[in-house]
Amino acid sequence: MKAVVGNWKLNGDKAFVLSYLRHLLPQLVEFDAVNNPLVLCPPVILLSQLQTILQQLVSEFPAAASIQLGAQDVSEYGSGAFTGEISAQQLVDQGCRFVIIGHSERRQHQQETNDRIANKIQRALQAGLQPIVCVGETLVQRQQQQVFEVLAQQLAVMTAGDPAAVMLAYEPVWAIGTGKTATTEQVVEVHQWILNFLAQKPYKSVAVLYGGSVKPDNAPQLFAQSSVSGGLIGGCSLDPIALANIHQAAVQVGLI
Ligand code: PGA
Repeated sequence: MKAVVGNWKLNGDKAFVLSYLRHLLPQLVEFDAVNNPLVLCPPVILLSQLQTILQQLVSEFPAAASIQLGAQDVSEYGSGAFTGEISAQQLVDQGCRFVIIGHSERRQHQQETNDRIANKIQRALQAGLQPIVCVGETLVQRQQQQVFEVLAQQLAVMTAGDPAAVMLAYEPVWAIGTGKTATTEQVVEVHQWILNFLAQKPYKSVAVLYGGSVKPDNAPQLFAQSSVSGGLIGGCSLDPIALANIHQAAVQVGLI
């Protein structure tokens, strides 16, 4: 599976959802949405509204049926006394098919460890959600040549479950929201390394997305690399025209 995924992070409200979709949908070119989805990950509180509006707009814009919903996080617990948590099953109930797990912002600000991330992956898989597991090194780790050591630790969580059901996103932390994209050479080097590393595990055919300051102007070159299975888009996904252009780049280079 290949995919373009928009992560709105802590942005958006009800009014934004409607105007966003009204700008995005007319711009979308045709694509194989079943196998190569376009996924929107708004704050969880907007999921149900997003789904309702997509359904309302489908007769006007058939592309509305091609958009999948994702969440930005999931609880490592199934149910019970865990105030503020949202379970994998509750996400499915809201129409989600995907969930981002282990984003570097959560690793940094919510102290998410690899162990907790492993639990979240299991919860997601049990509920039938497709995890998008984020991995990536900080600038200091890159400068100290620890990239592959860090990635090996982060990837150790990928030990069980259906390989086809998990996606990875390589997101160098220093490229997220900074405007600094990794060079194509850096991306290819890491993606190839990840694919080789996982080929020794049950994960032979995992898709590895790239994330970190993906924009309409750098997307075509990134998406043209055979080891890149799509993009995880943060800042630019808040601009529906920019996201449509990034998506179009994926279609044009034959990625999706
Ligand atoms: P960015 O974020 O595109 O704003 O760099 C990517 C991400 O955090 O997933």
